Amino acid sequence: MNNDRQLVNIALIGFMGTGKTSVGRLVAEQLRFDYLDTDEVIQTQTGRLITDIFAEDGEPAFRALEEKIVGELARLTKTVIATGGGLPVNPKNLASLKTHALVVSLWSSPEKIWERVRHQGHRPLLHDADPQKKIRELLAVREPFYKQADVLLNTELRSVREVAQQVVHQFRLEASGRR
Ligand code: S3P
Repeated sequence: MNNDRQLVNIALIGFMGTGKTSVGRLVAEQLRFDYLDTDEVIQTQTGRLITDIFAEDGEPAFRALEEKIVGELARLTKTVIATGGGLPVNPKNLASLKTHALVVSLWSSPEKIWERVRHQGHRPLLHDADPQKKIRELLAVREPFYKQADVLLNTELRSVREVAQQVVHQFRLEASGRR
């Protein structure tokens, strides 16, 4: 890993429904780090819901907000950052996160993702006539970006606790390797 990086944070990337929020909260608790979710930051800063931003201003406007928020994250320390599912598709975002965070990608199959998100209505990209097909298509497009993470973890057959443990372990390994 490039030694110019200051790995003081952890960034979780991955598709909707792969467990970024639940894993992220647990990792933060275990490391006594702060926890932050880029979607929540966008909603707080704009005073608007993600669904409204998508519906009223369109996806490109949302992506611009994401890029602005990612730039602001570089000043954080000891923070677990859960990112929106489409955020790493912008190479600037991934490059920026990598300067200060160990980037961990959570991965699940489209079937498992569908099982997890099917009863939730707050994700505009899944407001589609065939959401399962949409998941498969988006996942195929995004896979190469998710794979650019430092650590890849399949969350499908592991509990939230097990995945969190892996993330903590990888972070400690990386931190101790740099002392
Ligand atoms: C999106 C995922 C959402 C949110 C927005 C767009 C995406 O975040 O950022 O609805 O493009 O996959 P989660 O991955 O936290 O659901």
